[in-house]
Amino acid sequence: MSSRVEVHDLRKSFGTIVAVDGISFTVDSGEILGFLGPNGAGKSTTMRILTGYLPPDSGSVSICGIDILHRPVPAKARIGYLPEGAPLYPEMTPASFLGFVADIRGITGNGKAQRLARVAEIMHLKEVWHQPIETLSKGFKRRVGLAQAIVHDPDVLILDEPTDGLDPNQKREVRQLVRDMARDKAIIISTHILEEVHAVCTRAAIISRGRIVADGTPGELEAMSEYNHAVTIQVRADDAVSLSGAIARLPDVRKVDTLPLADRLVEITAFPAGGERIITGISRMLQEGSWDIVEVRHESGRLDEVFLSLTAGGAEEAQGGAR
Ligand SMILES: Nc1ncnc2c1ncn2[C@@H]1O[C@H](COP(=O)(O)OP(=O)(O)O)[C@@H](O)[C@H]1O
Ligand SMILES: [Mg+2]
Repeated sequence: MSSRVEVHDLRKSFGTIVAVDGISFTVDSGEILGFLGPNGAGKSTTMRILTGYLPPDSGSVSICGIDILHRPVPAKARIGYLPEGAPLYPEMTPASFLGFVADIRGITGNGKAQRLARVAEIMHLKEVWHQPIETLSKGFKRRVGLAQAIVHDPDVLILDEPTDGLDPNQKREVRQLVRDMARDKAIIISTHILEEVHAVCTRAAIISRGRIVADGTPGELEAMSEYNHAVTIQVRADDAVSLSGAIARLPDVRKVDTLPLADRLVEITAFPAGGERIITGISRMLQEGSWDIVEVRHESGRLDEVFLSLTAGGAEEAQGGAR
């Protein structure tokens, strides 16, 4: 059986700007694929092509087995789309706006009222149902935007930076709504926020300069980090030199970083020489020695480091912040 979304070798240029430079991937039902990349990486352009709003220069997009270029009407009927910035009609109410969207989607009669009631429930919009959209908070407005994307209960959801501009509580709420919808849909969500990948996505594609430079689960991407299996130790400053020297002499340690912290503490990070765990040997050494240790932790890898190393030079503005 084919995947819900199958994208093959998409390319799109605007004049001399190559926005999308050979992107291919698939997404199945139940998956939430994150497009992670700095501003200008080509995320929105790819999404606009996927939703049939922009023709590619070359390449193909199939939605539930339907080619979006050759059969745009049935393909688009399977897609819900939240465009970047989530434009809405400010003077309409959620009731009138979503009713209008239902009409466009060909939902009529009893089915329409039922579906709108269900959408209001899923997106928690009942209390503002008859209030002009322009008077709503950003969080409610975004939920109206998400609601218009799911009115026709699509198999595929494409959400362009759905949490952009929201406060932390609103972000968490939108992430929860997206996770709740994932069970029976294939979802693609773009973000430039690293922590979002952990919070929402089952898989992430890191996009830089119009190309996918890495594609995997959050754990697989973290494993690409030089911090994968590293060990970080907080020690009293007086013991730092002696401890970092001792760790550096361990045969399976490639290098040691030291970082002074507040309160006369130093953080020492030991990087493994191979891809193997080094925490066992280090723990044994710490127990046998007399260093004044505050904390020891095993690192699974740092997504922000992977992101920066893969997108370096491809961003005017790359946002860190996973930790
Ligand atoms: N309609 C357009 N005309 C000209 N250039 C565009 C257009 N849309 C996007 N671009 C350019 O294509 C590149 C990718 O943009 P975009 O897909 O919006 O990136 P992202 O969503 O990752 O921030 C950028 O250099 C952007 O300036
Ligand atoms: Mg964008």
